[in-house]
Amino acid sequence: MGVEIAVSGLTKRFGSQLIWDDVTLTLPAGEISVLLGPSGTGKSVFLKTLVGLIRPERGSIVIEGQDLVQLRGDDLYEVRKLFGVLFQDGALFGSMSLFDNVAFPLREHTRKGEKEIGDIVREKMELVGLAGAEGKLPGEISGGMRKRAGLARALVLDPQILLIDEPDSGLDPVRTSYINQLFVDLNAQIDATFLIVTHDINTARTVPDNIGLLYHRHLAMFGPREMLLSSEEPVVRQFLNAQTIGPIGMSEEKDADELAAESGQELPPLPPIPLQLPTSDGTPRRAEREAGEWCRSNGVTPPPGSFASTTAGIVGVDQGADA
Ligand SMILES: Nc1ncnc2c1ncn2[C@@H]1O[C@H](COP(=O)(O)OP(=O)(O)OP(=O)(O)O)[C@@H](O)[C@H]1O
Ligand SMILES: [Mg+2]
Repeated sequence: MGVEIAVSGLTKRFGSQLIWDDVTLTLPAGEISVLLGPSGTGKSVFLKTLVGLIRPERGSIVIEGQDLVQLRGDDLYEVRKLFGVLFQDGALFGSMSLFDNVAFPLREHTRKGEKEIGDIVREKMELVGLAGAEGKLPGEISGGMRKRAGLARALVLDPQILLIDEPDSGLDPVRTSYINQLFVDLNAQIDATFLIVTHDINTARTVPDNIGLLYHRHLAMFGPREMLLSSEEPVVRQFLNAQTIGPIGMSEEKDADELAAESGQELPPLPPIPLQLPTSDGTPRRAEREAGEWCRSNGVTPPPGSFASTTAGIVGVDQGADA
């Protein structure tokens, strides 16, 4: 069921600039995790470090018993085959058709014949809604289509781990919903562990099993979705509820005057925790858990109105919803 990725004590600097320090988290096998954080906190650097493109100063990344940080040459190349990556900018080759872009990893890493390659490319392009666009060049299509082509390319080698950097930036809300549904459906179908970087709060609240937040050069929190959505920790609470009141300012951290001006202002109540996005055909999500289970087993009362839904057929647990 996918593979677990155990990150421990990871630290990255570029020259004198510390990006993040002592990041420790475990991406559970086969689950969807989302990584959040203000712009410039090193989310993209984190993904590139996981796949071995950027070398950290300290720490370990253990996958199937091997520490990727220590691997070199062919060994690193082998472990990289476990990954499918959608980079933030899509990173398509501008002079190649979408077909050739998506076929590239297959031609590079496998000995499959062109007939089989063609079948796989068409299957993945259909999966991301790009059937018929195989002959187009990246420059001839919209930004959202480029994202989806990048996703098709990330899928062709049937990866164990999918790293996806801002799949929704530049997408309209309807396409964002489609791509979120695609992730949940894909996760239920293929044995892969997902890590999605996003700025979309709705995505973060409904798609993942786990959420992490990078802030101020460290990992502020990582854990089950319900843990972060019920958290009163100021940075987590502010970010996951897209509020202006809290420690995060326009340019990362607020200064003392700004914080003092806010003191005494009442925080809005935590909004209800939504249900997780179900699969489109009703099959269980890969890491399906009962709504409210984490809250119940940790003695946390979810915000009033949480997990209430008439569409997903799950009875709301609704503790404390009498307000
Ligand atoms: N190869 C590099 N060399 C030097 N500095 C880098 C390199 N790559 C990234 N950085 C720096 O690392 C920091 C984090 O960048 P990163 O792209 O990971 O941020 P991010 O969290 O993904 O932001 P955004 O949400 O805007 O995409 C930035 O200050 C960036 O300038
Ligand atoms: Mg980024």
